[in-house]
Amino acid sequence: MKKVAILISGSGSNMVTLAQSMTGDHPARPCVVLSNRPDAGGLDKARALGIPTVVVDHTDYKGDRATFDAAVMAALDPYAPDVVALAGFMRILTPEFIAHYAGKMLNIHPSLLPKYKGLHTHQRAIDAGDAEAGCTVHEVTAELDGGPILAQARVAIDAGDTADSLAAKILPLEHQIYPETLRAFIEKP
Ligand code: GAR
Repeated sequence: MKKVAILISGSGSNMVTLAQSMTGDHPARPCVVLSNRPDAGGLDKARALGIPTVVVDHTDYKGDRATFDAAVMAALDPYAPDVVALAGFMRILTPEFIAHYAGKMLNIHPSLLPKYKGLHTHQRAIDAGDAEAGCTVHEVTAELDGGPILAQARVAIDAGDTADSLAAKILPLEHQIYPETLRAFIEKP
């Protein structure tokens, strides 16, 4: 059985759908949920699902990314994860961290990559006059939001859409493609 560590910063809705997908004949189980925010809503949801939780509070590291990332690695490695799934984890990772989990790390990003890396993706799609928006699951490499794309889902941007209304349309698609893609990633030969 493979083990999946899930990293969150917020409400953890993607984490919940990933965790709930890993039952029955699924080849993996969640081993730990780690948050960089002690108040992340997803922590209680993980506990309710019976998943061990860990907090590594980035504010304790005062901008020292290398030491923060080392602390995250030290917290994750006792769980020996086969896959690290970023699920709304809002920290930029160092090359050292990414190399440590090379070939094992996935991310979900709320845009149709390669468009709109970084933040405020839905507003940027609206401001650009795009006809559609969406979400992407990709492998994590040293380039921010730049690794190989594994899956995408798209929705039309309608007149009157706001960043919030687009997010509300796209989040259910995230919940669909991320569990599917995680399973395919783990099952690939
Ligand atoms: C999701 O929309 C995810 O795509 C996005 O944060 C949200 C987390 O929601 N991720 C990023 O923006 C990564 N740069 P959740 O905590 O409910 O899963």
